[in-house]
Amino acid sequence: MSADTDVLLAEDLTIAYGGAPPSVSGVSLRVRRGEIVGVIGESGSGKSSVALAVMGLLPVSAVVSAERLSVAGSDMRAATERDWAQVRGVRASMVFQEPMSALNPCMRIGAQIAEVLRIHGTVGRRRARERAMELLELVRMPDPRRRLDYYPHQLSGGQRQRVVIAIAVAADPAVLVADEPTTALDMTVQAQILDLIRTLRDETGMGVLFISHDLGVVGQLCERVAVMYRGRTVESGAAERVLDDPHHPYTQALLDSIPRPSVASRSPLAVIPADNDYAHVPAVLEEVR
Ligand SMILES: Nc1ncnc2c1ncn2[C@@H]1O[C@H](COP(=O)(O)OP(=O)(O)OP(=O)(O)O)[C@@H](O)[C@H]1O
Ligand SMILES: [Mg+2]
Repeated sequence: MSADTDVLLAEDLTIAYGGAPPSVSGVSLRVRRGEIVGVIGESGSGKSSVALAVMGLLPVSAVVSAERLSVAGSDMRAATERDWAQVRGVRASMVFQEPMSALNPCMRIGAQIAEVLRIHGTVGRRRARERAMELLELVRMPDPRRRLDYYPHQLSGGQRQRVVIAIAVAADPAVLVADEPTTALDMTVQAQILDLIRTLRDETGMGVLFISHDLGVVGQLCERVAVMYRGRTVESGAAERVLDDPHHPYTQALLDSIPRPSVASRSPLAVIPADNDYAHVPAVLEEVR
């Protein structure tokens, strides 16, 4: 596959906060057009740090280095805030875990979506409202015309996340970075949002970097997956292969630590010891270059 199908490419990404030892070391990731790539790993393994780095959203205290960092076709290694502003929200968008924090509680959702459209400069005032409604239709919001005039608190959690996703895809980005977008939602709504992300990918051809600690979710949604442990990728490859036949002992332990309906339900779950260090075990990585 040629490089121009890459919508996200990070090679040897390292992130250190405020002079501390790196929180992320030598991570490489590739998302191609129309592909959903999962990043899994336990809390603190560096997943959000990677997501923020590829969106240019790390705090100034963070020192980032990478052999390559290409976002929606632009080399972002030496990008200034002004360069990021050209890319973020336009060619690359992000969805976070908690939809309420991404929305303005005092503003009707139609006006919030329209404001983003006008910032992108694509449409005038009247057209912006029509386009906002089309976007609510695109994210399968029930009764979208009426809901344009709702405030965020009048929506359910799942509906709020639909609004956040509508804003994220408003400018037809090449890549969507979703950091635990369904963790705050119940199981049924989670399934609907995952289905929506898959549908939007099918309809728009965007690539998706999907971060989750939930192996089940990643298995359902992603074509490829990277497993992070203590700031490094320990295993990556086709989702089916990694999840059905994990080669790295950490991935094996991670899979053994989750409840699976098929496994005799009374057998105790494996616990990953906190001090278990897999640093000596070679990573099992697919070719990224
Ligand atoms: N702003 C920050 N300043 C200093 N250290 C940070 C900052 N953000 C993250 N870290 C550190 O980087 C490491 C990785 O954190 P990160 O948030 O990337 O993990 P995560 O895999 O997303 O975890 P979770 O599943 O809990 O969201 C942690 O040790 C954390 O303390
Ligand atoms: Mg996180």
